[in-house]
Amino acid sequence: MDSAPLNAAFDPITPNVGRMYDYYLGGKDNYASDREAAERVIGVFPRTRELAVANRRFLRRAVEYAAAEVGIGQFLDIGSGLPTQENVHEVAQRVLPAARVAYVDLEPIVLSHGEALLATDEQTIMVAGDLRRPEKIVADPVLREHLDFDRPMAVLLVFVLHFIRDEEDPRGIVRALMDAVVPGSVLVLSHAEADRRLMPGTSVYDRASSPAVLRSQEEIEAFFDGLKLVEPGLTRLGSWRPDSPLYRGDDDLPAFCGVAHRG
Ligand SMILES: C[S@@+](CC[C@H](N)C(=O)[O-])C[C@H]1O[C@@H](n2cnc3c(N)ncnc32)[C@H](O)[C@@H]1O
Repeated sequence: MDSAPLNAAFDPITPNVGRMYDYYLGGKDNYASDREAAERVIGVFPRTRELAVANRRFLRRAVEYAAAEVGIGQFLDIGSGLPTQENVHEVAQRVLPAARVAYVDLEPIVLSHGEALLATDEQTIMVAGDLRRPEKIVADPVLREHLDFDRPMAVLLVFVLHFIRDEEDPRGIVRALMDAVVPGSVLVLSHAEADRRLMPGTSVYDRASSPAVLRSQEEIEAFFDGLKLVEPGLTRLGSWRPDSPLYRGDDDLPAFCGVAHRG
């Protein structure tokens, strides 16, 4: 189904998936409708906040990996969400001070907060875009002015593909994005899992700005087809290159993640 406009109108009444996630993370950029919906999800799966925090931790480690170990200095973060702690540009610039970041989202509150946050950072931009239109994102003149598509970049699809329905061709979207970047680029991806603990919460998302489409490990792994997953491969959030080998706290949370290279 081809439903959403390129960047959605501001709507404080319909629970919004980005603002619900902000609430899980303890942020302030959410409304009563978001909090009520988020509390219903937490009621069904009490570890929802932990899941969001574990995802942010994975994102930080993956950006550090791309910047420090691969030497990538450009980041295209689609479905970037509201600014929180350890934002991608902060993590990347800590490793590579010249790192450039383009955040893309369709939610107006994300766009306005992003623009305000970044007003003084010339290396980071926020642009409106819909992941369901990957060809428009990579053709955006502001984005192409900011990121050099002739050099490797990291494409971040972190906790966003589960808002894309099968009929919107999420695998084709990932392929189109990775075809648009040069070899040596990396894909950073995380995705909620079709786990019985999460299933009941999807009815809350049915009435939110996007449905939640939970997928199996095999379906999530298929997003990496044609790419080379780096060690340790597709894992649960806590097992992807944990800061300490002794730390396995997020290991049983229902989401998978991975980082892959375009050869
Ligand atoms: C759960 S948040 C994830 C934020 C961040 N990537 C992270 O993992 O911490 C999902 C974000 O994706 C955005 N989003 C949902 N559908 C989208 C689409 N079709 N195109 C662009 N952004 C989208 C939402 O507005 C929200 O900000």
